[in-house]
Amino acid sequence: MIQKASWIWSPHACESTALIFAKNIARRGRIKAATAYVSAMGVYELNINGRRVGDAVLAPGWTSYKKRVQYQRYDVGEYLTDAENEFCVHCGKGWAMGLVRGEDRRRVYVDHLSVVVALHLCYEDGREEWVLSGEGWQVYSSQVLDSEIYNGETQDLTAESRYIGEAALDTTLAGVELIPQEGEWIKEQERLPAKQMIVTPKGERVIDFGQNLAGYVEIRIKGRRGERVVLSHAEVLDGDGNFYTDNYRDAKNKMQYILSGGEDVLKPKFTFQGYRYIRLDEFPQKEIRLTDFTSVAVYSDMKRIGDFSCGNENINQLYRNIIWGQRSNFLDIPTDCPQRDERLGWTGDAEVFCRTAAINYDVTRFFKKWLGDMRAEQKENGTVPHVIPDCSGFSNKSPAVAWGDAAIICPWEIYLASGDRSVLEQNFDMMARHIECIHAFGDEEFAYMGGTHFGDWLAMDAGEGLYYGATQTDLLATAYFAYTTSLMVKVCKVLGKDTVYYETLNKNIRACFRRLFMENGLPKLYPKYDALATNRPVKAVTQTSLSVILRFGLCEESERERLASTLVRLIRDNGTRLTTGFIGTPHILHALSENGYADVAYDLLLQEKSPSWLYSVLHGATTIWEHWDSIKEDGSFWSADMNSFNHYAYGSVYDWIFGVAAGIQICEDGAGYEKMVIAPHPDRRLGHINASIDTKFGVVRSAWVYGDGEEITYEITVPQGCLATLRLPSGKQSELEGGHHIIKE
Ligand code: BGC
Repeated sequence: MIQKASWIWSPHACESTALIFAKNIARRGRIKAATAYVSAMGVYELNINGRRVGDAVLAPGWTSYKKRVQYQRYDVGEYLTDAENEFCVHCGKGWAMGLVRGEDRRRVYVDHLSVVVALHLCYEDGREEWVLSGEGWQVYSSQVLDSEIYNGETQDLTAESRYIGEAALDTTLAGVELIPQEGEWIKEQERLPAKQMIVTPKGERVIDFGQNLAGYVEIRIKGRRGERVVLSHAEVLDGDGNFYTDNYRDAKNKMQYILSGGEDVLKPKFTFQGYRYIRLDEFPQKEIRLTDFTSVAVYSDMKRIGDFSCGNENINQLYRNIIWGQRSNFLDIPTDCPQRDERLGWTGDAEVFCRTAAINYDVTRFFKKWLGDMRAEQKENGTVPHVIPDCSGFSNKSPAVAWGDAAIICPWEIYLASGDRSVLEQNFDMMARHIECIHAFGDEEFAYMGGTHFGDWLAMDAGEGLYYGATQTDLLATAYFAYTTSLMVKVCKVLGKDTVYYETLNKNIRACFRRLFMENGLPKLYPKYDALATNRPVKAVTQTSLSVILRFGLCEESERERLASTLVRLIRDNGTRLTTGFIGTPHILHALSENGYADVAYDLLLQEKSPSWLYSVLHGATTIWEHWDSIKEDGSFWSADMNSFNHYAYGSVYDWIFGVAAGIQICEDGAGYEKMVIAPHPDRRLGHINASIDTKFGVVRSAWVYGDGEEITYEITVPQGCLATLRLPSGKQSELEGGHHIIKE
């Protein structure tokens, strides 16, 4: 019915950019049930008779607004207390009207706020009534004077809500489809107390909450009417201990409040920040009471299903950082980072992290919604834009390797983790079109040469300060073309479709890959192209290329050992350290352990010098950094231009810890953990491991612990009705049924 309601907007000038759309709704009798359906171009809160309805934050969430916008459904019977009820939709700019940074840095969706409402009243005597937005709605000014996702919010708590005029019908949104909430609701989650007050060398008063996150700070304060509170946010302090905001780039992340004079609870309504610290730029009180400050995490309300601990405290901290990286970047869409003027649904980041994400949380609904936007945004020729929602109209004419491939890899991973076939059904056409787009591109039918790519983004092997790694991009693009077509064969099997087309295509791509990019069992440089037109050295034999070739099986079995030992040599020559970027990092540990070098994988996992996972942990990180060396040994930063301290991509290492160290692997013919292989790879340096996941069948757990001697005790829990094949390092193999199993070896 909400589809029959009219979008309304305010044609009047107003002192606040946030607006309140209101109507008095009469209740004609005793109410049995009342349901409100609401959406907005902007972000909104619903209030009835002055009471906030529900606990959703930043509704209606972020979708491909030009094509589809979610509406939310609320049970509101208990709010309609009077004969006349004041029904208000309080709306701020959000993602639709605020700045979201695109290629051109302009706002992209709408130039005014609009809301749409349908209210269904069911009376005790059986009558029903619909109240739809349209004529007769009023507009009022808001205490939220301005609000931007990137810049923060200004609230004047002394301001009276002023009548502005009648709302008008908005016909500009006729082409936008209203869809029921598909994703998880965005909600306030953890509440963290302030840890300490710091006075920096510059004399700034800074509060440290001890945890980088996405959300906002809530402050309880009783000041004098008209006094101001102004806060800045930061993820880190600089080498001198001063407040550092340069890495936010153009995002101001500033909160400004004018106090009412009463007991105020300050927090933004229509924005969020990515931060660990706040600076009190203006604060009326000399004495700071830390208990008045709370850091509130805000993210999609996904169910936590994974848990992990081990005997190495640094790895435990790495795990917590990965969890916080996910919390901070799963705010309605999977974002690259939650703080600078970006916070976009970068496809590559999501592709890299989605397996780990699905081990930590049930992300099925979350990804299904985002994939819905990917379908909506796929271009005519099949190209998947670099960011979804494609707020910026990226001009790429073909998909970027590993970024665009999210179109295949994310649905596949979500299917594997959840067993929900519908994610493959819904996305099959998009997946097929993505493959055909690459297939049709360039002059090599079975390779992907010359596209627009980011390559092994942020890898360390091209030289200091460069964004693009050294690995030849056409090699990577063709390797992914082979991998994604191999996934299409599997997808077709699951959906009962004919597999011949993709089998043949995959065979041809593999042959072409070997012809263009392999020589004597090692990767070779193809001289004609390199897709990245940047000044950087281009190499064929890198940690990333070797890892990808091994993982995607682009070699003959007889070539494996040479590739794997070359990989080990490159790692050792680099001081047992990584050189991989976004593409190589998720694969390298698997490539090692799948080829008999689990010990080298552990060496990398436990490496403490940069580039390594533990380097950031040992430098105080509470989330995953964008660069291996976001903060250098000497305390200086990577350039301010691209230096997020909350980028989840390298957190993808948890899928190795869970899948190989603890050894829990889903079988492709038992998606959703109905069938699995449990093949732990213990290492004394971790002492013990305890990893679990709460699947739809029940809890799967794999734990191992070293005893005093050489003996290791394994404890495995398999849910009833599921099957697990246990493979121990000794080579012993057994079938486990549902139940708790203890094995010593
Ligand atoms: C983002 C990345 C993203 C990349 C593409 C950056 O600005 O933060 O995480 O994938 O651009 O190269």
